[in-house]
Amino acid sequence: MIIGEGVRLRSPERTDIPKFVEWLNDPDVRTGLLLYLPLSLDAEQKWFDNMLTMPAEEQPLVIEIQDQDEWKMIGNIGLHKIDQRCRSAEVGIFIGEKSLWNQGYGTKAMQLILKHGFETLNLNRIMLDVFADNLGAIRAYEKCGFVHEGRKREAAYKNGIYVDILIMGILRSEWKIEDV
Ligand SMILES: CC(C)(COP(=O)(O)OP(=O)(O)OC[C@H]1O[C@@H](n2cnc3c(N)ncnc32)[C@H](O)[C@@H]1OP(=O)(O)O)[C@@H](O)C(=O)NCCC(=O)NCCS
Repeated sequence: MIIGEGVRLRSPERTDIPKFVEWLNDPDVRTGLLLYLPLSLDAEQKWFDNMLTMPAEEQPLVIEIQDQDEWKMIGNIGLHKIDQRCRSAEVGIFIGEKSLWNQGYGTKAMQLILKHGFETLNLNRIMLDVFADNLGAIRAYEKCGFVHEGRKREAAYKNGIYVDILIMGILRSEWKIEDV
């Protein structure tokens, strides 16, 4: 496990699948993601089986927070598109428990995966795409040290309008260990 203060990242288990389906069918969660269609339990089970065949370092991790004596799962985070030669990767995150948004957990989980990416996987660059209207996500990424690298104009279509997609990235040389 990747353990931080009050937040940890662990491998997903098959028993987590119903919770993933519940979260990813919530329109408020989905609006920040590339998903736009309802998701079935069967489809998520297939995704899980396929996920197990992916390179271990690209398999997503479950975000858990300490809730008194127990750990409670609240979302997922993961690195993907790891480029071994350029030492770069993309990162994706969602917190499915929306009652827990804006309490710093997204920032903490992202800080943990950045530490894992830079210090364990020896990456040099981690980037992400974010919808320009996802202000909470952008703020969380800025707090982690991501910088704005570009804007793909009207690159996505959701809720009846085109929205821009921002490109944000962080280099190992910009990353501050004391943030974790
Ligand atoms: C994006 C996400 C992971 C962020 O996690 P989180 O735990 O809510 O984030 P944090 O609490 O660490 O940080 C959010 C910051 O945005 C701020 N914020 C929230 N809404 C905002 C708004 N409309 N305008 C400006 N800032 C806003 C919060 O106040 C907080 O900043 P602060 O700590 O300086 O006050 C979470 O909201 C989520 O999973 N959303 C649904 C899926 C998604 O959009 N994933 C990202 C895809 S790129």
